[in-house]
Amino acid sequence: MASALLALVLAYLFGSVPSGVLVARAYGVDLRRVGSGNIGATNALRALGPGPALAVALFDAFKGGIAVLLARAAGVEGALLGGVALAAVLGHNHSLFLRFRGGKGVATSFGTLLFLDPALALWTFPIGVSVTLLTRYVSAGSLAGGVAAVVLALALGRPPWLLLTVALMALLVFWTHRDNLRRLQAGTERRLGERAEIR
Ligand code: G3P
Repeated sequence: MASALLALVLAYLFGSVPSGVLVARAYGVDLRRVGSGNIGATNALRALGPGPALAVALFDAFKGGIAVLLARAAGVEGALLGGVALAAVLGHNHSLFLRFRGGKGVATSFGTLLFLDPALALWTFPIGVSVTLLTRYVSAGSLAGGVAAVVLALALGRPPWLLLTVALMALLVFWTHRDNLRRLQAGTERRLGERAEIR
């Protein structure tokens, strides 16, 4: 019981590390005050360009991946491992270091999925990227990736705990993208490649 709690708390703390805020701060920018205000790689691309955006994406994915990897190395498996992955995503979305505010959890979810189920992650990735490139909306690609992960987990006959984990991750992605969904409906969503404006 105590070790399960420890695994969940550690994963939350890993997820809480505000990668985007830290990378952007090194460039003298507060990501929360430019573009969409999100602390993720998409907004870092708008505000800072491709190099820093890649650093944010990798850092966000890494912190999710390492949380799962360490928990697994400590013998955590099954539903508790799914809980660890979700705790890392919740840490990113509601960071201890950002007064429980945070990002949208796409890269961190992907990082956890890479270690939970590499094949599922690698099937999901090109779907998200293709929708992003076709629509030029990263948010549309993120939402499509969430749906694709659930459909693929079902199609590939993954165990119930993994299916539930992926479904909850997808729900979180839809929740954190509620403003993006409104903007997509209104036709005011920022396109991939648009530069950021100061908010
Ligand atoms: O992963 C976040 C992306 O889907 C949307 O980012 O900055 O356009 O809200 P943003």
